[in-house]
Amino acid sequence: MTVSNQAFGDQYALYNGDCVEVMQSLPTASVHLSIYSPPFGGLYHYSSDPRDLSNCDDYDTFFEHYAFVVRELARITMPGRMTCVHAMDVPRSNSGTDSYRDFSGDIIRLHESEGWAFTGRRMIWKEPLAVRLRTMQKNLAHASLVADSLDCGVASGDYLLTFRRQGKNPVPVSHPVGMLEYAGERVMPSDILSYRGWSGKQTENRYSHWIWRQYADCMWDDIRIGRVLPYRDCREEDDEKHVHPLQLDVIDRCVELYSNKGETVFTPFMGVGSEVYSPVLLGRRGMGAELKESYFRQAVKNVEAAAAGYVIGQDNEELCFED
Ligand SMILES: C[S@@+](CC[C@H](N)C(=O)[O-])C[C@H]1O[C@@H](n2cnc3c(N)ncnc32)[C@H](O)[C@@H]1O
Repeated sequence: MTVSNQAFGDQYALYNGDCVEVMQSLPTASVHLSIYSPPFGGLYHYSSDPRDLSNCDDYDTFFEHYAFVVRELARITMPGRMTCVHAMDVPRSNSGTDSYRDFSGDIIRLHESEGWAFTGRRMIWKEPLAVRLRTMQKNLAHASLVADSLDCGVASGDYLLTFRRQGKNPVPVSHPVGMLEYAGERVMPSDILSYRGWSGKQTENRYSHWIWRQYADCMWDDIRIGRVLPYRDCREEDDEKHVHPLQLDVIDRCVELYSNKGETVFTPFMGVGSEVYSPVLLGRRGMGAELKESYFRQAVKNVEAAAAGYVIGQDNEELCFED
């Protein structure tokens, strides 16, 4: 495997290199869970490296390249375990009269063709004005509505897509006293708090039942959008855009639902390290690959903080202009 840099600790292994090459060096069925945001079909460009998936000539070429990732992930994942993909609808342009590509639909079809079973889609809700200010989407300007409301667009949410690898899972992810932590912005009703860790009949466990109702919901409208890792320091001078880290609430939920403590969680597109930081803080082993050196360096800082037990990643999202 060709990596330019790497960092190891008892609970993590981070590689500065191409994710396909990194995965090719990992044993079959050695990973219990993967979580990631792929580059969004060329919507943002992270680097000029030809191995960078954001750098493909067009949408179809992106999917040809991405198929290698999905295939390798299937090989390294334990039978019956999950991969979680964060995606969004991809606008074809920013003309003010845009149409979208069904990126999540294309991701689902790719996974099915590579032997994964599609197990669900959750929408992560986004507030329209914040989307407008972050993306400067012309069809989200109030002026579009005033001029011709046919051009009034949609502040798309994100999607979390889950897939299960073929085969029987040999180790269940069980919760004998139910869920113990809730990652989200709702305030739990005070009368259920005493049920936390309830060891009696689980039908009586109102605390865990309440968390289950939030997590099983198809609409995750309680994600703390600002709960992300620091990322601005790793911006380089010639960067047109910067990475937008995935919200830690989304990752924490996947880690708790789909892995046991001590198991290995992998991310092929590590960015500043969110999908490694969260599993490490939650007692798992995290592994990640990132091509871009400045993001890799930031990921090392963030993951080292998690390994030392420091909680970072509170309200780091600022409203920022993408173009
Ligand atoms: C959407 S960002 C991921 C951000 C990440 N979820 C976080 O919270 O920081 C996609 C990342 O994939 C990286 N990338 C693109 N192609 C890659 C490849 N072939 N191997 C490894 N990383 C790659 C980009 O540099 C970028 O950091």
